[in-house]
Amino acid sequence: GGDFNQNIDYVFKVVLIGDSAVGKSQLLARFSRNQFSLDSKATIGVEFQTKTLVIDNKTVKAQIWDTAGQERYRAVTSAYYRGAVGAMLVYDMTKRQSFDNMARWLEELRGHADKNIVVMLIGNKCDLGSLRAVPTEDAQEFAQRENLFFMETSALESTNVETAFLTILTEIY
Ligand code: GTP
Ligand code: MG
Repeated sequence: GGDFNQNIDYVFKVVLIGDSAVGKSQLLARFSRNQFSLDSKATIGVEFQTKTLVIDNKTVKAQIWDTAGQERYRAVTSAYYRGAVGAMLVYDMTKRQSFDNMARWLEELRGHADKNIVVMLIGNKCDLGSLRAVPTEDAQEFAQRENLFFMETSALESTNVETAFLTILTEIY
């Protein structure tokens, strides 16, 4: 464009899913604005943030969608997944249940998203290592079986957040 718009070569929609309180919104805040909040409120409906980056000399606009983990706050599922080329399945590594629910989230994703979508499993809150309830090997095994990328992150300490998003965006590209 002729104004401040950069010439965008690609727009990639990536969706975040997983149980409430696993840290989806804070991962997004960290990636898009380099911010983090400990008293983050539960998401209601759908929010999104964009971040423009350069991959391989191309300008890529990442449009990251974030929704509520809580059923009662969730928006229309099919609209959320429509057009998504990437997905992050997030669990809290200190909450076993949030990992056990990954199979259900994956099922919902596979039921609504394009079959070529790039999916990454994310074990968040690795700063709370002493409270770990999900061994890395369990997650690796699940990821391998389901053909997912896998990373452990901390939105609080910024560990692997940028790397996780960059990996998924590069894979899409
Ligand atoms: P819903 O919107 O309800 O689906 O939850 P969410 O997955 O978006 O969780 P949110 O990002 O709001 O984070 C929930 C709580 O976990 C907040 O108190 C965050 O500050 C905290 N949190 C998020 N990421 C981390 C992390 O990496 N480490 C630690 N220690 N706490 C985190
Ligand atoms: Mg949220």
